[in-house]
Amino acid sequence: MNFIPYGKQSIDKDDIDSIIETLKSDFLTTGPKVKEFEEAIANYCGAKYCVAVANGTGALHLASLVLLEKGDKVLTTPNSFLATSNSILYVGAEPIFVDIAKDGNIDLDLCESKLKRDSSIKAIYAVAFSGNMVNQEKLKYLRDNYNITILEDNAHSIGAVYNGVKAGSCINSDCSIFSFHPVKHLTTGEGGAITVNSKDIYEKLLTLRGHGMVKTPDMKPWEYEMRELGFNYRITDIQCALGLSQLNKLDSFIDRRVDIAKKYDMAFEDSIVKPLYSYHGKSSYHLYVVQVDFSELNISKEELFIKMRERSIGLQLHYIPINKQPYYKSLGYGDENTPIMDNYYSECFSLPMFPKLSDSEQDYVIESLFEVLNG
Ligand SMILES: Cc1ncc(COP(=O)(O)O)c(C=O)c1O
Repeated sequence: MNFIPYGKQSIDKDDIDSIIETLKSDFLTTGPKVKEFEEAIANYCGAKYCVAVANGTGALHLASLVLLEKGDKVLTTPNSFLATSNSILYVGAEPIFVDIAKDGNIDLDLCESKLKRDSSIKAIYAVAFSGNMVNQEKLKYLRDNYNITILEDNAHSIGAVYNGVKAGSCINSDCSIFSFHPVKHLTTGEGGAITVNSKDIYEKLLTLRGHGMVKTPDMKPWEYEMRELGFNYRITDIQCALGLSQLNKLDSFIDRRVDIAKKYDMAFEDSIVKPLYSYHGKSSYHLYVVQVDFSELNISKEELFIKMRERSIGLQLHYIPINKQPYYKSLGYGDENTPIMDNYYSECFSLPMFPKLSDSEQDYVIESLFEVLNG
C-alpha cells in the first residue's frame, strides 16, 4: 500500500498544460493571469474584489495591516494554524483567545459575552475550521450590534455555503482570506487571496502587496512613489494559471470530499469514533476530524499515530492550541479558560481526506483505524 497522507493535491494534465502555456508566454509574474485569477475567485465567492498573494499568511498579514491598529484587541480561536493569530501580532495588536464550540469553531456566544464586558475590543478573527463555515446569522448580529471588524479566515473553506452565504463573499465580514497550499481544496503550490467588498480596503491591499508603491497616470513614465511601508507578497502568473485550472474543478473536488465524509460518517455511526460533526451541507470538508475518548481505551493517541503510520496511513492533528505554544506562553498566554478546546485537543485527530483518496484506500483507513483502536 502506498503511503496515504491526510491531505494532498489533485493535479491533472489540464493543470500541467496551463502552467506550460504560461511559461511560454511573455509574463511569468504580474501579468494577465493574476488579474484573471483574482476576478475568477471574486466571482466564485460572490465578492466584489480579490487580491491574490504569495500565501495565506501574507493574506492575513495584509488584511491585518488594513483592518487593525497597534494595541487593538482581537478575539480569536486557539483552534487554528499559527498564522491566524500571528497576523494579529505582526501588526502589534493583541490576540485574545476564546474557547471553541462543539463544532471546532470559535464560540460566538462567548465572544458576545466578552464584547459586552469590554467595549474596547476591536475585531473578531473567526476561522471556518475544517471547511465548516462560522454561523453567519450570529456573525451578522455581532457586527450589527457591537461595531466590530470581522475577518473570516476561510483558508479551509473555499466552496462552503451557509444558508446561501458563500465562504469569501464577505456578506457578514470585512475581509476573508484563503490559502492555496497543496493540502487545501485548490492549489497554486503556495498562494493565498483576500476577498473584500470595500473598494477602499481593496486599494490599500493592492498597494501593500507591492512595497507600498503607487504609480498614477499624471506621473512621469519612470516615476513611482512609495507612500507607506509595504511588502512583496506578489503571486506569479505561473501559480495563477494553475489556480485558474484548479478552480474549474473545485466543485467536483468538493463533491468528492463530501462523498468521502458521508462514507466516514456511516462507518463511525454508533462507534467509539465520533465525527466532529456529521454531514450537514455547510462544510466543504478540507478536513475530516474525529474525536476518540482515549481514557476509555488501552491505546494512547501517540500509539495510534505510530501504529497507523506503520500501516502507511498519515494521521494529522488539527490543532495544538495556539495559546499553549512556547512563543505564546512567553508572551503570557496559555492559562485561558478553554475547557472545550482542551478536551477537544485530547481527543481529536484528522483522517485522510482528499479528492484522489480511492474507495479501497478509504476502506483500508477505516478498517485499520478500528483494528488499531481495538488493540
Ligand atoms: C486556518 C489557516 N489560516 C491560515 C493559514 C496560512 O496559509 P498558508 O500556509 O498559505 O500561509 C493556514 C495554513 O495552513 C490555515 O490552515
